[in-house]
Amino acid sequence: MHVRLDDPVDLDAFRRHARQLLAAGVPPAQAAWNGARDEDLFGETGQGGETGDAAPPATPTSGERHAVPAAFVALCGDVILHRDPQRFALMYRLLWRLAHEPSLRHDPLDADMLQAQQMAKAVHRDIHKMRAFVRFTRVMGEDGLERHVAWFEPDHHIVEANAPFFARRFAQMRWAILTPERCVEWDGETLAFGEGADRREKPPPDAGEQLWLTYYEHIFNPARLKVAMMRREMPRRYWHNLPEAALIQPLTDAAEARSQSMIDAPPTAARRIRAPIALHVRPADGVAPANLGELRAAAHACRECPIGALATQAVCGEGPLAPQHMLVGEQPGDQEDLMGRPFVGPAGQLLDRAMAQLGWARDSVYLANAVKHFKYELRGKRRIHKTAAQREADACTHWLDSEISLVRPQGLVALGTTAARALLGRPVAVQAERGAWLHERRDGRPVFVTLHPSALLRLADGERAEAYARWLDDLERARGTVSAAIAA
Ligand code: URA
Repeated sequence: MHVRLDDPVDLDAFRRHARQLLAAGVPPAQAAWNGARDEDLFGETGQGGETGDAAPPATPTSGERHAVPAAFVALCGDVILHRDPQRFALMYRLLWRLAHEPSLRHDPLDADMLQAQQMAKAVHRDIHKMRAFVRFTRVMGEDGLERHVAWFEPDHHIVEANAPFFARRFAQMRWAILTPERCVEWDGETLAFGEGADRREKPPPDAGEQLWLTYYEHIFNPARLKVAMMRREMPRRYWHNLPEAALIQPLTDAAEARSQSMIDAPPTAARRIRAPIALHVRPADGVAPANLGELRAAAHACRECPIGALATQAVCGEGPLAPQHMLVGEQPGDQEDLMGRPFVGPAGQLLDRAMAQLGWARDSVYLANAVKHFKYELRGKRRIHKTAAQREADACTHWLDSEISLVRPQGLVALGTTAARALLGRPVAVQAERGAWLHERRDGRPVFVTLHPSALLRLADGERAEAYARWLDDLERARGTVSAAIAA
C-alpha cells in the first residue's frame, strides 16, 4: 500500500491514513509512505494500492480502535517535521507496534522509539537555531511599504511550525522569511506560506546591519570566551548567513590580550561618602500582594504606566527569601523580557562574571529590578532599550517596595541611578555616592549604591578595565560588610 501525503508536515493527514491502515491490518512492511517535498521513494511506479490525501485507503477495516498515549501523538508532531523521508514509516511502525506490543510503552530503550526521540530532538534544535539566527534586512517594496526580509536554511521542515513564534515576536513588523523549501510572510495580521525561494533572492545588507555589528562587538566579552561552546551553539554551517560571523575571528584573536588587561588593572581605592537620607514611598493602590506569586501576577497585569502594554511580561526578581543581599537593577532588557527572568542578557552576564570572580554565588542573592516591564523603542526590527521616564519608574516603586517586604533582604545593592532613586526616594548621583553602606531606607534597610553593569558595557575599550576593577571593588565591599552595616 502506497500513501502519498500532499503536505509532508500535515500530522492530521498522516494520522488519518495511519489509522485506516492499522484498522485494515496492513503491517508496516507492506505500507510505503511518501510526502511531497521529500525525496520520492516510490519512483515512477504508481502501482495499484497507491493513495493520496484526498483518498484514504479503501481497504476494509476491522472496526477496531487503538488508543495510543498522548505523548506518542506529541512525539509524532515533532518527528513529522524531520527531513528524513523514512519518518512516516517509522511513525507507522511505532503505531503498529504500540497497538500490537503493549510492552513497548514501558521500554525506554526500544530502538524505534529512541530513533523517533532523536529525530524530535534534532527538530527542536533546528527550531531553536532558526529563532536565534534569523537576521532580517529592511527592504522597501514597490508598493512603498517597508518589509523586513530574512534568508534562512533550515535542516528540517520547520517553517510552518516556527512561523507563529516570529509572528508573536515581530508582531508589529511586516516581514518575510525565505528558505529554499518554503517562504512565510507576515503582513501584521496573518501568516501566508508559499513555495521556496532561491538564495539569490536574499536581500543585500541594510544600514541596520552596521548597527548590529557595532552592538555585537560591544557585547563581546573576551573574558567569557569559550570557543568550543561557541562553535557548538553557533555551528559553522550557519555562519555564511550571519553578518556577525565575520567578526568572530578578529574578536577571538584579540580576546586573550583584552582580558589580561582587565585582570592586570589595579583596584581603585574606595571613597566613603555620607549622603542625606530620605525615602519617598508611594502608597500602594489597594491591597499589597500576599506572596511573590501574587506580586508577579499583579505586576504582569499592571497598566499604571504605558510600558506594560508593550512588554511580553513583567519580570519580577528571583533568588532566595530572606537573603543577605538583594541586588536591584533598572528594568528588564530584551532577553529578560522574553525569558521572564532578570539579568540574563549582556548586563546580567557581566554581573555573573563579576560575582564569579568574587566567589559570590548568584543564587545566594535575590536579583530584582526597579521597573518591572521592558521599555523599548522599535528601530526597524530591533527593540532598543529606553530608560523609563521618572513617572513610569515612580509608578513601579510600590511593586519594588512590596517585593522587598516579601523577600526580606538584610541589605539592598542599587545598581545604577534608577535603582538608587527607587530605593532611596530621591535623586542619587551614583559616582559621588557609590561604594559604601551609608544610605538607609525608611524601612531601616541599608542601601549600597554602585554602577549598573550596562554602564560598563557602554564604556570604550580603553576605559572599561579600570571602571570594571573599581566596580568589582564596590561589589566586594557590598558583599562583605552588610552585617557590619546592619549592626552599626
Ligand atoms: N538590566 C537590568 O537592570 N536588569 C535586568 O534584568 C537586565 C538588564
